[in-house]
Parts: sequence; C-alpha cells; structure tokens
Amino acid sequence: MTETLIRGGTLVTADGRRRADLLCRDGLIAGVGADLELGPGTEVIDAGGCFVMPGGIDPHTHMQLPMMGTVVADDFYTGTAAAAAGGTTSILDFVGPERDQSPLEALAVWQSRAAKAAIDYGFHMTVSWWGPRFSEEMETLVRDHGVTSFKFFLAYKGGLMLPDEQLIAGFLRCRELGAMAQVHAENGELIAYLQAKMLGEGVTSPLGHVLSRPPQCEAEATGRAITMAEITGVPLYVVHVSAAEAAQAIARARGRGVKVIGETLPGFLAIDDSVYRHADFDFAAGHVMSPPYRPREHQAVLWQAVQDGTLSTTGTDHCCFTRAQKRLGQDDFTRIPNGCGGIEDRLHVLWHLGVNGGRISPEQFVALTSTNAARTFNLWPRKGALEVGADADVIVLDPARTKTLSAATQRQNTDFSVWEGMEVKGAVVHTFSRGTHLWADGDLRAEAGRGRYLARPAFGHPYQR
Ligand code: URP
Ligand code: ZN
Ligand code: ZN
Repeated sequence: MTETLIRGGTLVTADGRRRADLLCRDGLIAGVGADLELGPGTEVIDAGGCFVMPGGIDPHTHMQLPMMGTVVADDFYTGTAAAAAGGTTSILDFVGPERDQSPLEALAVWQSRAAKAAIDYGFHMTVSWWGPRFSEEMETLVRDHGVTSFKFFLAYKGGLMLPDEQLIAGFLRCRELGAMAQVHAENGELIAYLQAKMLGEGVTSPLGHVLSRPPQCEAEATGRAITMAEITGVPLYVVHVSAAEAAQAIARARGRGVKVIGETLPGFLAIDDSVYRHADFDFAAGHVMSPPYRPREHQAVLWQAVQDGTLSTTGTDHCCFTRAQKRLGQDDFTRIPNGCGGIEDRLHVLWHLGVNGGRISPEQFVALTSTNAARTFNLWPRKGALEVGADADVIVLDPARTKTLSAATQRQNTDFSVWEGMEVKGAVVHTFSRGTHLWADGDLRAEAGRGRYLARPAFGHPYQR
C-alpha cells in the first residue's frame, strides 16, 4: 500500500475551495477533510500556503508526430515527463493515419509509441482521409477502443483538408456513433491562394505564414463547421481558437443552443503576430503554427470568451520542433514545420496571466486546465476532480514561488520556447499521477511506461471506472 497525505493546503476545484487535507492511497483519492486516518509509513507533504488542485489535462497534444518531412521532437516519454514537471497528469493526443492507412492500424502504431508515456493518455483520431473503410472502422474505434472524438481539417489543401461533402459524411457518422467531431477551422482554399500569392511576390520568410492565414480564414471555416454541425446534429469541438471572429462565431452559436465547445491555447492569449516580423529566422520560425498568433487586439476578446465560458478548455497543441527542424523552411515559409511546444508551461502561464492578472479565479483556472476537458471528453469524475474514489492526479501550486520560463531549463525536448524569459509567479511544486510522486519540487521522477491508456466511452454514457 502506498499512501500520501497532502496536508494543510487549500483545495481548489472547479466548484469552490476549502481548507482540507487530501489522502491518496493506492492511486486513488482516499480521503478529503481533517483528521484523516493514516496507515503506517504515510508520506506527508506540507502544502501550507499552497493550492491543491486536480492535475492538468491537456486535451490537445502531438507527441512523436511525423509532419512536414520531420518528426515532432518530443516523444511520449519526454513530452509526458515535461508535462508532469508543469502539473499536467493526462493528455489526449491525436492519432494520425497516413493517407489510405487503416485508422485501426494507425491506432496500433500510436499505442506502441505511447507505451513509454509517464502519465495517462487517451487518443483522438485525425480523419486524414475519407472513405467506406474509415467510416466502418470508426465504429470499432468508438465501441472497442474508447476513441470517441474525431478531428477534421478544413485546412492543408492537398494534404489533410477534406471537402465539405466528406466533412458532412464524417460528421453524420460521428453523430451515429455518439462521437464528437473536432475541427481545425481555417479555409484551406484561401490559404493556398494566399501562400502562392506571397511566394509569387517574393515573400519567403515566416512573415508569409501569418499573411497567408488571416483571421477571416479562421472565421469563415469556424462558421462553416458550426453550420454543418448544427444541421447534422453532432456536438462540435473547435480546437485552437486564435481569432476574435472565431470566438464570436462560437459564442453566437452557443447562444442559439448549438452544442459547440471552443478550445484556446495560452499562447493565443498572450503572444501577438509581431513575432513573425522578427529579423532572426529561428525566432520567427519558432512561432510558426497554424492558426498563427494574431494581432494584439484579439487577446482581449479571447480572454472575455474564456471568462464567459465560450472557450471552456485550454490545450497546448504541443507540437514542438527544434531550431534545426524549423530551418527546413529557411527559403520557403510553407515548408516550416507547423507547431510550437508548451505542455510544461500551460498551467504556469495561465496562473500568472489569468489568476495573478485578475482575469480568472483559481476555480476557473481548475475548470480551464482540467475539469472542463475531463467533462468534455468523458473522463470526469475519474479525472479533473478531487473526490474520494477519483484517480489521485493532484498538484500542489505555491502561489509565492517564481519561475523563469526558458529553453535552457525546460524539460521539453527542444531548444526553443515561445515563453523565453517570461517570469511567472505561482509554480507547481508537486505533481502526483495516480498517487505516484512524479515532480517533487524540482526533482523529476517520471518513469517511462507507467502511464495508462484512457479509453473513453461514447457520449451519453457515464464514465466507467
Ligand atoms: O501548427 C499546428 N497547430 N500544428 C499541429 C497540428 C494541428 O493542426 O493541430
Ligand atoms: Zn489543428
Ligand atoms: Zn494540433
């Protein structure tokens, strides 16, 4: 029996806070309150002056993903170890079948890659092509493998982008199976036109990336996906919302009762598109992701959407590359591998800018980093809760502790950080994953292969422990 008592902290959940001790026993939360009965040899963690919260759930990651002629720098071990150092205890990663590859076969590939994960993990499936076989296998994915969310791309013409006819067919199939449709919402046709225009005008630098992906492209695709979801009757999850107009489209749809959920990333709340004008290629290319960072005025609208629940989850879209990998696009911005890191930083940045910045309460912080993702993806109350019987995925955050974010000190397997030099106040000092102490005040004890697969039931079914 392993037992840990987290003593003297303030427990915060999405619903409120209270002073209480929390007892973890054999991987589960065994007690919450005062004067808890302890077994012999209980480890005691002093959480005085700290907040004790559910471990973070990152609903959007890409570990070891082959992409644009290279492979994402973090694998399932390095990426999940970095996650633990930043207070995240579960991830949902995207399985990406090759064109015409069986999705079940691709799932087996991802399962073998994820076997070395240090924290728990589940999968979404990218609908990277469409046809009868994909549609058929979706049923097995949902019923037998607990893959109950499917991401459709409205961007990447000539690659992942699907035409509207196939998006509609895919959405209908999701509805039939009780699965959720997810969308990468940018207008791929317009982006292809603008990319060719930029290159034709001699713009080859990372600036071309942002100029060819304006907010209108995201707004149009978000609106189109919402309309398709509304008419086909499927719940829709819009990943990585970066543009004010996209958030506003989601708010309008939610206002008329459409089941649409929006996710944003910490970077979209704080980093603006001036990064693409930087003279240093490595710096500008290090920020190349899709959709791109937006002009500063979008940030206030996104914060408002976070505050009012229009954007109810935060992910990282963790998809990190090294400087050398980004140089694949030195002469042509369309060849820069798309993606940024951040799994280690999400909670710190959101606490610092959100809670310290007076924009969100600690309760909203828990909802945004953990509970809402657990509820949205059918992991609650096993994850995202501090209740007896829940998995003991618990973090202790010291609000007085400061930390400087930097590529030089991060655990993420890359030499770049979009948060370089940022000093945050409020740091995760302990991370427990199913009761195992993975992060102990600077000591990372993440062990490869201890993460467990999270099969998720289809929607409408209570989570089975
Ligand atoms: O640029 C990004 N976001 N890369 C990861 C793939 C995706 O579209 O989520
Ligand atoms: Zn995407
Ligand atoms: Zn992504």
